Amino acid sequence: MRILVLNGPNLGRLGSREPEVYGAATLADVQALLDGVAGIEAEVRQTDDEAELVRWIHGAVDAATPVILNPAAFTHYSYALRDACAMLRGVAPLIEVHISNPHAREAFRHVSAISAVATGVIAGFGIDGYRMAAESLSRAAR
Ligand code: DQA
Repeated sequence: MRILVLNGPNLGRLGSREPEVYGAATLADVQALLDGVAGIEAEVRQTDDEAELVRWIHGAVDAATPVILNPAAFTHYSYALRDACAMLRGVAPLIEVHISNPHAREAFRHVSAISAVATGVIAGFGIDGYRMAAESLSRAAR
């Protein structure tokens, strides 16, 4: 099963960005982790551009592709991204992933515009959250 693993702004800096919050792993490490999950073929992408992220979700809707999404800061205020994600409902699963636990951080991170239209949410387990999400998608497809 092909899945898209979409990452929002500043996640291209994983590895050097606030390592005390996000750890030392990079998106290449995320790809390697997902390459080890049986039954899925993961394509990891990252953009700092809201419009590009929305277009990638449109593509997933059109192709009925399951999505793992770390919307990064867009999580907290992008209604455009939320509306795009809503189109996936009934079409393909969407798992929202956060490396950190936003609920244990600043108040503005406690609200997600995405969670209400996600199939499920995984947060606070570092990059292992991506593997958990992929395992779940793989298991659900079996
Ligand atoms: C994040 C949490 C967000 O609050 C933050 O803006 C990010 C990363 C996470 O993976 O923990 O950029 O989505």
